[in-house]
Amino acid sequence: MVPRGKYPISICMGTACFVKEAEIIVDAFKQQLKIELGEVSFDGLFSIDTVRCVGACGLAPIVLVGEKVFGNVTIAQVPDIIAEFSSPRSTAA
Ligand code: FES
Repeated sequence: MVPRGKYPISICMGTACFVKEAEIIVDAFKQQLKIELGEVSFDGLFSIDTVRCVGACGLAPIVLVGEKVFGNVTIAQVPDIIAEFSSPRSTAA
């Protein structure tokens, strides 16, 4: 079993997302959360893994946080995505 955080982050590494530099997005999450793929952040909130095509290639690169889908993700958005789920006022499920 791979450990998962409360908000598991899955970055699509299918072809369309890969060519849109999904790998850079993976690195940005790893740096920001200070964890590697398959690890859980110290606060138990986040884990990172990669998935195959989730069928939303038109919005590549795709990041899933739990059930929520983020499309056209840039590295600049990574801190905002994490903050959205870290906030005590977060309405994220
Ligand atoms: S390759 Fe990422 S959604 Fe299809």
